[in-house]
Amino acid sequence: MSTDLNDFKIIKEGEAEILMHAKNEVFYNKTQVNNRDLSIAVLRTFIEKRQLEHEAFLTRRTKSAEKVLEKNSESVSGSAPNEMPMDDIECNGEREMLDETPQEEPCSVRKDIPESTNGKGKRELKPPRVLEALSASGLRALRYAREVEGIGQVVALDNDKASVEACRRNIKFNGSVACSKVESHLTDARVFMLTHPKEFDVVDLDPYGSPSVFLDSAVQSVVDGGMLMCTATDMAVLCGGNGEVCYSKYGSYPLRGKYCHEMALRILLACIESHANRYKRYIVPVLSVQMDFYIRVFVRIYTSASAMKNTPLKLSYVYQCIGCDSFHLQQIGRTVSKNNSVRYLPGFGPVVPQECTDCGKKFNMGGPIWSAPIHDLEWVTSILADLKSMKDRYPAYDRISAVLTTISEELPDIPLFLSLHNLCATLKCTSPSAVVFRSAVINAGYRISGTHVNPLGLKTDAPMDVIWDIMRCWVKSHPVKEQPSDQPGSVILAKEPAFQANFARAVASLSKAQAKKVARFLPNPERHWGPKLRAGRQITSKHISLLGPEAVNGSLKHDHDDGDEEAQVCHKF
Ligand SMILES: C[S@@+](CC[C@H](N)C(=O)[O-])C[C@H]1O[C@@H](n2cnc3c(N)ncnc32)[C@H](O)[C@@H]1O
Ligand SMILES: [Zn+2]
Repeated sequence: MSTDLNDFKIIKEGEAEILMHAKNEVFYNKTQVNNRDLSIAVLRTFIEKRQLEHEAFLTRRTKSAEKVLEKNSESVSGSAPNEMPMDDIECNGEREMLDETPQEEPCSVRKDIPESTNGKGKRELKPPRVLEALSASGLRALRYAREVEGIGQVVALDNDKASVEACRRNIKFNGSVACSKVESHLTDARVFMLTHPKEFDVVDLDPYGSPSVFLDSAVQSVVDGGMLMCTATDMAVLCGGNGEVCYSKYGSYPLRGKYCHEMALRILLACIESHANRYKRYIVPVLSVQMDFYIRVFVRIYTSASAMKNTPLKLSYVYQCIGCDSFHLQQIGRTVSKNNSVRYLPGFGPVVPQECTDCGKKFNMGGPIWSAPIHDLEWVTSILADLKSMKDRYPAYDRISAVLTTISEELPDIPLFLSLHNLCATLKCTSPSAVVFRSAVINAGYRISGTHVNPLGLKTDAPMDVIWDIMRCWVKSHPVKEQPSDQPGSVILAKEPAFQANFARAVASLSKAQAKKVARFLPNPERHWGPKLRAGRQITSKHISLLGPEAVNGSLKHDHDDGDEEAQVCHKF
């Protein structure tokens, strides 16, 4: 490729600048600034938390060692047996290594510094090493290196020659910090990750379409307590466009409910967990986001054969009624505790009868999905605080702070959500306002919140029969036209409510952010804020009809003719 600078234009994002060749043979999508900003915010919080966890680990280790010393000196005179010094330590990956043998230290602990005897100050943490496994132009790797304080080496991979050439050029273009921290390799990311087990504190997967082929090697490449960041843009597949394709890629059946984008997040998490389990590892989700045209999850990875036994408690099948869209979760496993011991057993089922008790129709069954929390709210609060403290350093500040604010108010323990519009469409009634509906749920003694995935979605622990009773009461004062008696809505309304709903406005019916008028959902900054085609392929009329001519013929001509790209176009869902 020519090296005449006139053939290039400079693109700046955050503190990084990249050179884009006029031919645009390397993938770049400016809409992913949200994705990159969010990842930088999570990385900053990860570095802070990792340091705190390490300090807590050292303090506890010192205390345990002192206890053992005390006991040993007692046992010289008495008969107390030696104890394991650190059996209750819970800290980062270090927690898990203590309940496994052999006990290794995390890869990122500096072994070149001699241990001191006073406990504190022993074993400094090395700056975290980051693997950007699918790096294209290197923009993301360069932003990590230039913007994230305390970051270590950033390794950027790509199996495309033009991308690696561009990445190397961009590293030089970004000056000495970039040159000292970022290195680029032309290689298949899967092979690289497999041959670098437990070597990276952070592994970032940002593929075209599905990440599924990279997961098995990625979960092995992360250190204990490290983080995997993973994007999926194949939303049509994950949202039920081709259930069988989703099953083959992710091992889970999607359902076409209004909650499908949250289900997509939970399918991806279940899939990562299943790959991690193969290596006695398990995940702890920190943040899971659906934004623009993709999903992105941030999970920590730990090793523990015993903790891994809890996985079936974190997974569920979903039954969704084909008549009224009511949904019910069926947990895969359960535990029974007896005399201080825990037995792991299959879940009791089925949780639903053959026919829906509300409308009489059958159920589709989807999943398994991750049904445990998808965010750690403490992390979300820290990420938001961090973000707010350096607004100017995030080009997509408004958007990501809005998303994180909405996430911070989500009920953490409620998988999936209802759509008020859907409930009303089933009954063919006018809709109560969200505040009125939320009030009725709260007044009935249940919790309710919004969801970042859908401005009209509502998460609640109220069972479906309570929800339908609230709607029956609503319809009594807002009558509907007569419908054929076999319609799901008619069957639901034919029953009398078991209680009288109270629609009086409840104090908590507005979220805190709503009450303070803090932005929670923002429109896209410009038209065609969506996926881009894979670099270096032919544009077809199919792409133009799916993405629109501007998206295809914009300043960067990325073209492609592969089914996957269709899968990236999710606006029909
Ligand atoms: C969506 S782009 C990455 C964009 C980049 N992360 C960013 O933020 O700008 C995906 C990249 O993955 C690369 N890729 C696809 N399969 C790969 C593999 N098996 N190993 C390494 N790179 C791969 C492609 O060449 C492409 O450059
Ligand atoms: Zn039903």
